[in-house]
Amino acid sequence: MRKHTFVLAAVLMMVLSGRGDGVAMDESGCLTCHRYPGLVGPETPEGFKVFHIDEKRYLQSPHGKTDCRKCHTGIEKLPHVGDTAVTCTNGCHLAEKDKKLIAEFDLKTLHAKEKSYVTRLSDGSTCRECHHLYPHRSSELARSFINMHISFMTCETCHINREKFEPLHYDWTDSETADFEGEPFGARFNPNLGPEANSTHFISRISVFSIKGKKKKSLVNTRDAKKAREFLAEEKKLNESEKEERLGYFHRDIHKAKISVTCNECHSKNTILDFKQLGFSEKKAKDLVYLDIKGLVTKYKVFYFPHMFRQ
Ligand code: HEC
Ligand code: HEC
Ligand code: HEC
Ligand code: HEC
Ligand code: HEC
Repeated sequence: MRKHTFVLAAVLMMVLSGRGDGVAMDESGCLTCHRYPGLVGPETPEGFKVFHIDEKRYLQSPHGKTDCRKCHTGIEKLPHVGDTAVTCTNGCHLAEKDKKLIAEFDLKTLHAKEKSYVTRLSDGSTCRECHHLYPHRSSELARSFINMHISFMTCETCHINREKFEPLHYDWTDSETADFEGEPFGARFNPNLGPEANSTHFISRISVFSIKGKKKKSLVNTRDAKKAREFLAEEKKLNESEKEERLGYFHRDIHKAKISVTCNECHSKNTILDFKQLGFSEKKAKDLVYLDIKGLVTKYKVFYFPHMFRQ
């Protein structure tokens, strides 16, 4: 009887979401968030955690037909930190011979083949002389989503002090090099790409430019990288006010955390990005405008929104 209910629910899900095309049956909706390449936690000197689960690869894995919550039994709220224990014996692997199998299995490797993320960017960014590639940490709910955007936009796209440089123009960068773990996805985002799209180390990201007459000038800071390295070398010798002054120089063109561009300044009708001009299809543009950031979490009983998640 339970089996019938399960199948019925699965079929319903496929009909409702219009997907009979062999993608994973994600009954718990986990992939709504976890399917994005580059969904990565904050980086520390010890490294970072990757939360991406590729839908296709998951389906092809030995557990492709198993609903996420069969193993992740504790996850029902957001952010789901603190209740993330996994079980292998929730109706499965109960036989005596499986005990040994499970005891010897390195759980950390379970999703290893289902993750894609950028490991290195060579864009000459001054910011990254001092900040990690995945620097966002303060908001547990938003940080990994913000980090995800680094795979397809430069730091300045969100952090530039807009008033200082208006009028602004947002466009793709020409050519940058990146290293990937998992599947290279550098060409996934820019819809206007030519032959570079086939390179496994190519990445194109949205960036911000100032407009002077007909000239477009990149606002990505690469020119202070040497100065930043000098700062790092001398940092220990500086007193607080010297330090503050020198840091102020590196941050002179950006808004610090509290007044950066928020989710809704891009994902809403009043978006600062011209999705059409950036080459997105009408459907994709609509999806990005109407991306229901609140809706991403309404299924869950307990959740809180940091400031930027408010509509
Ligand atoms: C609304 C978006 C969203 C949904 C839906 C969602 N997650 Fe997550 N999940 C996240 C984010 C964001 C993180 C990373 C949190 C962080 O930055 O530490 C995460 C982290 C995790 C982690 C790692 C926790 C840790 O720190 O080790 C697991 C496991 C996980 N999710 C499983 C699931 C499962 C299973 C489901 C479905 C029942 C699910 N998630 C649904 C957004 C989501
Ligand atoms: C067969 C059991 C099983 C299923 C099914 C399963 N997971 Fe996991 N998951 C694990 C294990 C084991 C870990 C590693 C836990 C650890 O490191 O202690 C894990 C870890 C994770 C993490 C944290 C990142 C990582 O790799 O350590 C995320 C995110 C996650 N799972 C999401 C999902 C989503 C989304 C689904 C459904 C599409 C899913 N899992 C289905 C067993 C499972
Ligand atoms: C020379 C090193 C250095 C460079 C270069 C640098 N930063 Fe920072 N940044 C820091 C340090 C150290 C702090 C923390 C102290 C502070 O707030 O001044 C910081 C703070 C920040 C904060 C605010 C954090 C908070 O909690 O308020 C943001 C945002 C930020 N940096 C973004 C950037 C961006 C974007 C760039 C590139 C345009 C950049 N930084 C370049 C060292 C640097
Ligand atoms: C999608 C927009 C976006 C992009 C791209 C982005 N940031 Fe941020 N950043 C934010 C927002 C929003 C906050 C404020 C987070 C909060 O208050 O929780 C922030 C906060 C920060 C902070 C404060 C640290 C913290 O605790 O979260 C630093 C440092 C920072 N950003 C550096 C960078 C650097 C370096 C890059 C490029 C590698 C970058 N950011 C790219 C939106 C972005
Ligand atoms: C500067 C503009 C900008 C800001 C700010 C921004 N986004 Fe995005 N976001 C984008 C663009 C552009 C894409 C599309 C990338 C692609 O798929 O080509 C995107 C994609 C996404 C996606 C994946 C949607 C999809 O279907 O591919 C999610 C989820 C998302 N953003 C959530 C957020 C959240 C949460 C925040 C705030 C923490 C945020 N975004 C802030 C521009 C932005």
